[in-house]
Amino acid sequence: MIPPIVRTLPALRKATRNWHAQGDTIGVVPTMGALHDGHLSLVAAAKAACDRVIVTIFVNPKQFNQAADLAAYPRTEEADARKLERFAVDAVYAPDITQIYPEGFATNVSVTGMTDVLCGAHRPGHFDGVATVVTKLFTQTSADKAFFGEKDFQQLMVVQRMARDLDLPVDVIGCPTIREEDGLAMSSRNLLLSDRARVKAQHLSEVMTEVAGQLAQGVPFANVQADAVTKLDLAGFTSVDYFELRACTDLKLLDQPTEPARLFAAAWLAGVRLIDNIDVPVAR
Ligand code: PAF
Repeated sequence: MIPPIVRTLPALRKATRNWHAQGDTIGVVPTMGALHDGHLSLVAAAKAACDRVIVTIFVNPKQFNQAADLAAYPRTEEADARKLERFAVDAVYAPDITQIYPEGFATNVSVTGMTDVLCGAHRPGHFDGVATVVTKLFTQTSADKAFFGEKDFQQLMVVQRMARDLDLPVDVIGCPTIREEDGLAMSSRNLLLSDRARVKAQHLSEVMTEVAGQLAQGVPFANVQADAVTKLDLAGFTSVDYFELRACTDLKLLDQPTEPARLFAAAWLAGVRLIDNIDVPVAR
């Protein structure tokens, strides 16, 4: 059965109050739609951990720093609802803008520090937009648990810190990145790639995996960083926003994985910005 689509906050509240009154736990999977297997793995995790599951679909204008990027973002609500059919989710919350940002909306949720680097440095205001909408989605859905992909690792860290700092009663759970067969991390933005660009896109995870292997053998990151960027350049990426090794706990820059670390990359391919991150084993 196609899941019920809920459009308004009062209708959502009515359902969530009933569920909580019955003692059911509620899991939320926040999305901007254009659902792929990465999202569906979050839905499966939510179904396994919670009595009730809400998938939210809202393309959040506040987190886009370019109007053209917002306009081009794929919107596929009907197909999304069909993909959710087999999971028997309890509701798809697809509010219109007035339910999230009513007239006169004047509040901004801003997480400082960890948003100064990586995507935060390249997309001014992006994480304020994310933290603000996710705060609203958490309070509107009254979720007990929320599920986010590690593909957007910095976003996951920002949301966990925001929920902790604001004492939001929700457990924010990170789930592994789901990849295409050639290694490309699944993303709604992959839909924007032409067939030719899609073939080239695999080089991002390929180069990252190669560098992770070199780091595991003790090669300092400074010795391989420039070479990795050149490889992306030769593979057809037009610019690389960042290619960095950072600590998992606080995102500080590292030259060697002396503590839990990840490689982070963002690069442009045929006008599409792709991001990825991979775990790097701690060097002994
Ligand atoms: O990762 C996303 O799709 C979005 O950033 C989120 C978490 C749904 C907030 O709009």
